[in-house]
Amino acid sequence: MEQNKIRNFCIIAHIDHGKSTLADRFLEVTDTIEARDMKEQYLDSLELERERGITIKMAPVRMKHEVEGVEYVLNLIDTPGHSDFSYEVSRALEAVEGGILLVDGKQGIQAQTLSNFRNAKKAGLDLVGAINKIDLFNNKSELDELVIEMADLLEVDPGEIKLVSAKTGEGVEELLDTVVSKFRSPEESKSRYPRALVFDSFYDNHKGVVVSARVFDGSFEEKENVRFLAKEENFQIKELGCFNPKMKKQKRLETGQVGYIATGVKDPEKIRIGDTISDNKKAEVLPGYQEPKSTVFVSFYPEESGTYSDLAQALERLRLNDSALMVSGDRNEVLGRGFKVGFLGKLHYEITSGRLRQEFGIKTVHTFPSVKYKVMVGGKWQEVTQPEDAPDHFDKILEPVIEIKILLPSQFLNNLVSVQHQFRMKDIKNRSRGENVLVEATMPLAELVADFDDVLKSITEGFGSFSYERAGYEEADVVKVDFLVSHEKVPGMSRFFPKDVAESEGRKIVKRLKKHLPRQQYSQPVQAAIGSNIIAREDIPAVKKDVTEGLYGGDITRKMKLRQQQKKGKKKLKRRSEASLNEDIFKELLKK
Ligand code: GTP
Repeated sequence: MEQNKIRNFCIIAHIDHGKSTLADRFLEVTDTIEARDMKEQYLDSLELERERGITIKMAPVRMKHEVEGVEYVLNLIDTPGHSDFSYEVSRALEAVEGGILLVDGKQGIQAQTLSNFRNAKKAGLDLVGAINKIDLFNNKSELDELVIEMADLLEVDPGEIKLVSAKTGEGVEELLDTVVSKFRSPEESKSRYPRALVFDSFYDNHKGVVVSARVFDGSFEEKENVRFLAKEENFQIKELGCFNPKMKKQKRLETGQVGYIATGVKDPEKIRIGDTISDNKKAEVLPGYQEPKSTVFVSFYPEESGTYSDLAQALERLRLNDSALMVSGDRNEVLGRGFKVGFLGKLHYEITSGRLRQEFGIKTVHTFPSVKYKVMVGGKWQEVTQPEDAPDHFDKILEPVIEIKILLPSQFLNNLVSVQHQFRMKDIKNRSRGENVLVEATMPLAELVADFDDVLKSITEGFGSFSYERAGYEEADVVKVDFLVSHEKVPGMSRFFPKDVAESEGRKIVKRLKKHLPRQQYSQPVQAAIGSNIIAREDIPAVKKDVTEGLYGGDITRKMKLRQQQKKGKKKLKRRSEASLNEDIFKELLKK
């Protein structure tokens, strides 16, 4: 395959703007899969992604497309559209030469579109702007403003903005023609040694970890002995080929091509997105490699005793296909053995816990999602990923902050202003963007992990969007609040709150706990405490139930025995009341 007949590209879009649907149409138009085999959103393979309608995993695919009698190979890489996965997006952008900036005609440009657009520009991609869902408009002139806005952003003539409907297929073939005419073909090999960039990976029971890779220099063949340069792991290529869209074996992968390489490696720890494959230690690592950074931490414990090994196995299975998941052992006095898991962000956590439940049917008890704090005690810094592990008193505490960009229609700006303080936003700057306002601010990551996304949605009637980047650590004015049920600390519930709201937040959570916890045969006080200082209390009254009811007269020993059993039962019940703080209750408690 001649290099000038190859086009490698991706679609950059905000969640729900129709990227997967457009990819489906591409597969159809190019006869990569026949319409009758078409199951909607072919590239979103995970069941949960399908259900939530968001793309997490990138599934690259090779298509053939003819323009003026010449056949081209188009490699499409699908990219996730959420800030949690920005590193994965950045790797995918490095693997291609071109990008389609796809915007929903009804929703317009969104915060994530802007940040992905900037990253694509930084990566030096050729870009084409396209407006999707034009079937929803009777009068195309309604789109004029958006066309101009996009043309401004891309610095092109409005005539170059494409109008498509991924649903009906209108404009889709022309868009593919533009991919061929506008995007450059891959460059010639520049390095002495062969090099390929890993931009995705998944696990196959027979082939071990299979990576999606873009070859930048030289070529790779089956049976060749090669190496991951950053992770310093050697392996022999078991098989390689392209995605068509299923895996199709090939003899060789050459410069400019995108495909898969089966590594035979069984341990996902050894594989990192962004790593470089080469046959020589001396080859230079392709730029931009990073270890995945966990930002949100949650401990999981099995809800039913005896399912610990099921949980261990499930997490191991998930990790095989998600090397960004960081899993380590954990132990809690009440909940027993479990796992501490590090995630790229809150969405990553929600998806993973959803998969544990849906795909593995495992019920777990969680701790509150937490960020990584740095706490100074007696002149020494320590890292804390679960507030309950932090000492009650400390000299200083730092928390991670983010730079957030929020794009919202200007009529909702006042609503955002009214919650700025609540989410501890600082350094706020507003800029108008057509009918929208772009708000930039710094904000503690912990506030984002609370329910910022839900609040933003509700105060902007669903029109607001945001993207974020990590921005280091800042000193935080927070205290640790513990929660107690029946005078015992509830494991996993401790949280840091800003000093000025600790008491009111504590009180709110205690009230909610009272509402959600089941009544027991004894009354239960629910308390919030800072150190030994109780700051809030509610009581859950007992349900009256006597097991001796219905036993008439005589047999006192029998009654005694039953009472004894009831006592023992209380102990058991207590554990269960703590353990019944399931995911849904946590979600409820996280609300502002
Ligand atoms: P992520 O996977 O989360 O990134 O979303 P996506 O950008 O892939 O969006 P997806 O393709 O899942 O489309 C979102 C919704 O828009 C779905 O309900 C689609 O059916 C719908 N949709 C996509 N394209 C069109 C279109 O051209 N017209 C109309 N009317 N609906 C569309």
